[in-house]
Amino acid sequence: MLFDTHTHLNDPDLYGSAASLIDEARAVGVTHMVVPGYDRDSSLRAMELADRFEGVYAAVGFHPHDAKDVTDQDLTELEQVWLKHPKVVAIGEIGLDYHYDNSPVEVQKKIFAAQIEIAKRVRKPIVIHDREAHADILTMLQTTQAREIGGIMHCYSASKEMAPQFLKENFLLSLGGPVTFKNGKKPAQVAEWIALDKLLIETDAPYLTPEPYRGKQNHPANVRFVAQKIADLRGVEVDVIEQATFTNALRIFGLEG
Ligand code: NI
Repeated sequence: MLFDTHTHLNDPDLYGSAASLIDEARAVGVTHMVVPGYDRDSSLRAMELADRFEGVYAAVGFHPHDAKDVTDQDLTELEQVWLKHPKVVAIGEIGLDYHYDNSPVEVQKKIFAAQIEIAKRVRKPIVIHDREAHADILTMLQTTQAREIGGIMHCYSASKEMAPQFLKENFLLSLGGPVTFKNGKKPAQVAEWIALDKLLIETDAPYLTPEPYRGKQNHPANVRFVAQKIADLRGVEVDVIEQATFTNALRIFGLEG
């Protein structure tokens, strides 16, 4: 069984075909998935999908791109309403994005910190988006004591050398399509090195499609190619990777086996 820990069936490009994409995923053993929100509408769609489909769970929150538009009322709704939904298992995706300049850095940091505090109050893990902001993300996780709740470094893209510091803050590292890329040296090094109880897998569909389908639209069924590549890198059977990452996902999201 496979668990795609990060898949955007709430993305407008996938939302209309969610039912068939879930069927295709189940047909290849992907029985569980988490759909993360990135703004208000996508968080609402994530919860709606979780309501409709068995094995589908939601994360809700405000992405750094949209930080400048997040109001106090939004944060109250996140804490008081969305996080009470029975199939909301995490807050995310939240974090910092220094690649795009969609919101000023100070505003990104403020909204990120506010959502970490909410997560600590509601005792749920956080799903981190880190784009070219590794050092600042790490510093903020340390200074906010985010280790109390822990969470996931989604599509981990920092170095193997930096990885122990994220593990020390009680974060699991999730690998996706880039581990299958020819130029994916950093995630491949992480895949070979990481202890199996700290590893998760994801697609980040519709983005970051793994080989052999790189360049096409990504779907949750493709998470099996991520598992296979990690198994090849480590020289183990794919079942070993599937079972470990499935168990880890159930544990971090507080789900029953
Ligand atoms: Ni995402």
